[in-house]
Amino acid sequence: MLANLNDVLKPAQAGKYAVGLFNTTDSDMLEAAIGAAEELRAPIIIGTAEVLLPYGELKLIAPGLVAAAKRASVPVVVHYDHGLTFECTMEALKLGFSSVMFDASAKPHDQNLAETAEVVRIAHAFGATVEGEIGHVGEAAKGDESLADMYTTPEEADEFIRATGVDALAVAIGSAHGVYKKKPMLNVKRLMEIRAKVDAPLVLHGGSGLSDDDFRNTIREGIAKVNVFTDLCLAGDAAMAEGLEKKLGYLETRNLRVAKIKEAVMTKMKVFGCAGKA
Ligand code: 13P
Repeated sequence: MLANLNDVLKPAQAGKYAVGLFNTTDSDMLEAAIGAAEELRAPIIIGTAEVLLPYGELKLIAPGLVAAAKRASVPVVVHYDHGLTFECTMEALKLGFSSVMFDASAKPHDQNLAETAEVVRIAHAFGATVEGEIGHVGEAAKGDESLADMYTTPEEADEFIRATGVDALAVAIGSAHGVYKKKPMLNVKRLMEIRAKVDAPLVLHGGSGLSDDDFRNTIREGIAKVNVFTDLCLAGDAAMAEGLEKKLGYLETRNLRVAKIKEAVMTKMKVFGCAGKA
């Protein structure tokens, strides 16, 4: 069933578990993600991100994401991850996404607040939820996770939520997107300080490559949503390499890819504690 962030994150926050966002840029990833959620009876967030649109056109993939969510036997949020432009974010809402992230975190502070507030006003009129970001989660390839001056502060988190009305907040506490070059050190103390100051569900980006302990420690201290993409791509890559090595052919390799991605999603769901919650 189609759900929004409030439907799945409020129970997660109360129950001290997290729901995973697994970006699904094609129908194989979609099948894997929904299959994992149904098998484990877990709520799930699927979607795509603005930087991923070259790999799956929004107009083409949106109907598939929404249809899969509607017919699923578990709650499925169709979320537009890292909306960067007003136009594409509005397009996602018009195409039936039940949730959007608007990410103006790389822009000047006041502009981030004003633009996010505008998106919240419109998205709420659609019945959709909004995630925003203050502080900035960067790229693992550049080592951005260790740039502590980009981390979210409790004061700015509080101000941002009040000024924008976002339903969930992405925080920068030492994670980054992509493959880490060295083991990241998450600032759990900072997370606890933010949690003590705000009530909104908090989101951890850059979930690929983090340890099970990283997940347990941050979920215990208030993370209710974890974003994962790179690890699904790596699982798919491994399946393709195995298919080539075993000379499996296109369709068999495709099935192996779905199976491996599904397994990767299920592994994360078990650690996040959302299995059995739908
Ligand atoms: P990874 O690709 O590092 O898992 O990050 C995913 C993410 O945060 C998407 O918003």
